[in-house]
Amino acid sequence: MKEHRIRLKVNGDESEMAVEPRTLLSDLLRNQLGLTGTHVGCEQGACGACTVIIDGKPQRSCLILAVQADESTVETIEGVAEDGIEHAVQISLHQQHGLQCGFCTPGIVMSLVAASRYGRDAETTKAQILEGHLCRCTGYVNIRAAIDAAWETTGGGPERSDLGVGE
Ligand code: FES
Ligand code: FES
Repeated sequence: MKEHRIRLKVNGDESEMAVEPRTLLSDLLRNQLGLTGTHVGCEQGACGACTVIIDGKPQRSCLILAVQADESTVETIEGVAEDGIEHAVQISLHQQHGLQCGFCTPGIVMSLVAASRYGRDAETTKAQILEGHLCRCTGYVNIRAAIDAAWETTGGGPERSDLGVGE
């Protein structure tokens, strides 16, 4: 099958690569770039596990062909911490026990990071997480608590952590 050359900026690094037209962005991230923190569950847009941020917006990478992402900026869970310091939402999920097996967690983190950048309030964000991410383990109670904690700690815009974990 004829391959196409695409260019992406992933977690700040420019990449140029050849992909088949049928390659999903989720597969490119995991198999070609080794970014296996982006999990794949349903492969049909239902579970949210594969969520990454594309050009500032949370998107399900299993629903996007790699060629459609040509010239995009992509952020994955591997790029969320800065200089070894976790993002506020990562710290809150940890501290509030907002994960168990962790399969859904990278996708949830990416949606929360995007919500924090858009300045969404905690209630709107919780509703979006409940609608858009399936978690088989937690029952969502502690995920909701983590969102409250992150938003409270940072005054509603938890773009960066000041909780000190990871320093
Ligand atoms: S794997 Fe993409 S939404 Fe489930
Ligand atoms: S923590 Fe296991 S699926 Fe969410």
